[in-house]
Amino acid sequence: PYLERYVDPLPILPTQAATGTLTAGYALHRFHRDLPPAPSWGFGGVTHLGPVLEARAGEPSEMTFVNDLRTHVLAADIDTTLHGALPIDRTSPPLVVHLHGAPNRPEHDGYPTVAIRPGQSVDMSFGTGMEATTLWYHDHSMGTTRLSMFAGLAAPYLIRDEWDTGRPDNPIGLPTGDHEIPLIVCDKLFYPDGRLRYDNTPTVQQGHWAGGLCGDVMVVNGVAWPYLDVDRGVYRFRIVNASQLNDYRLSLSNRMPFTVIGSDGGLLDRPVSVVEFDIAPAERYDILVDFSLVPSGTTVDLVNAMQISIAGQANGAHMIPDVMRFRVGGQGTSVLPATLRGPELRPELPAVEKPEITRTITMGVTANPNNLTFLGVLHMNLNNLNFHDEDFDKPVQGTVEQWDLINADATFQVHSIHLHLIQFRVIGRQDYDKVRYLAENPPPLLGTRWTPSAEKYVTGPLQPPAPYETGWKDTVRCPPNQITRIAVRWPTAEELGFDPDAPFVAPDGSTQQGYVWHCHLTDHEDNEMMQRLRIVAPDG
Ligand code: C2O
Ligand code: CU
Repeated sequence: PYLERYVDPLPILPTQAATGTLTAGYALHRFHRDLPPAPSWGFGGVTHLGPVLEARAGEPSEMTFVNDLRTHVLAADIDTTLHGALPIDRTSPPLVVHLHGAPNRPEHDGYPTVAIRPGQSVDMSFGTGMEATTLWYHDHSMGTTRLSMFAGLAAPYLIRDEWDTGRPDNPIGLPTGDHEIPLIVCDKLFYPDGRLRYDNTPTVQQGHWAGGLCGDVMVVNGVAWPYLDVDRGVYRFRIVNASQLNDYRLSLSNRMPFTVIGSDGGLLDRPVSVVEFDIAPAERYDILVDFSLVPSGTTVDLVNAMQISIAGQANGAHMIPDVMRFRVGGQGTSVLPATLRGPELRPELPAVEKPEITRTITMGVTANPNNLTFLGVLHMNLNNLNFHDEDFDKPVQGTVEQWDLINADATFQVHSIHLHLIQFRVIGRQDYDKVRYLAENPPPLLGTRWTPSAEKYVTGPLQPPAPYETGWKDTVRCPPNQITRIAVRWPTAEELGFDPDAPFVAPDGSTQQGYVWHCHLTDHEDNEMMQRLRIVAPDG
């Protein structure tokens, strides 16, 4: 629908301590001045998304989550041929809460198959044994995550520490209060009556998986194309890409430089000045914008220049250039930190550790014999395996591994790979000849591990990560026709303070073990592009 841009103010999500009870509930939410209120889900009484939860590094964060979702906002879009999606999800929606990026105990990590139903609650104890950073919490229900996140079950979670505005003296000098604003950015699609629309693919019947949703409206903190009144000072925006399929290339409309200070797992070594940066689904970037560079009375827009993927284009989607508007007012305080770490502050980031083992990972798309509707023939996968296949990876605690993430997807889709429990580092990316690689190493039937090395097919030098990607990451952008190399250090039980491989009995009585890792394009993780992961003891 045609919606006028920049007529609604940016909603500021309420902030609360990460303790106590939080209810995931059903509400009516207005996404735009000219749209009627529509069914939505949110946490803690927020009609869409949820409160910004704040915890202190190292301090326990114990919460109870209640499922009061009542009815499924997108019941008609549930595809029960997908692994884990059940007919009962339509009338009794599942809730699985996951704190993305934190070192959670396995039983408190939001294992996708362990859902609570309306009327039930679950006690969670989140891991806070990490430095200050921008995390987010969201639903992780097996086979329906794309729908719950689209309906609103996602919100920021900030870890604070003595350097990063746990205050009282704010040693780095970062903006606080109303100058520090989390922005949950995603693209959405609506019916003319204001309801959220997931059924976007003309050739695929509603209720069948359709490859990935691209919207035609940019939504920030739950409102379409909002504006924010700012003063001529420095603002800290903590940006989460909460889209389904799309990565964004964000910049300011006047091309003025701004500063990236942090990523998924904490602050960078030093501020990085950029005019634009790329952000894939589930990545976070922490940026400072100095509005003293523009006169009062003017406007500056946050804009996107990332082309839509071929899969998105096939569904008729177009790039959305506009995100939100800043209306610049009077004088503010403009101080940019000179350093984020260093001798007098937190120590510099450790050098990327030398890997002892290299693990080759493939990302692909194959035919799915279970679903023969048009696009439904496609099936996403990691290592050519299904989620339920037993041949999943079992790295050893205390080892350092290099993961070579080979994007072998014939559809040229960027994937966004996320590992639970840990923060890793990006080594770099390298082009390779996908056509020859696939021709000389044809994948077997789905369900058999397929991870041939791509080293003899590389066609260019190792490209270092972007300067803003050099900090701690839990999610990495994996472009087509490239090998994305990351270094992962698997923590020991001693370092974590718990055994990451301890089996646990879930609230539903089932015995579980380990974590998951997956593509964070939500339609992909819902359709098998997720694997189990056990981090086993050295002698186990
Ligand atoms: Cu953001 Cu497995 O999650
Ligand atoms: Cu993917």
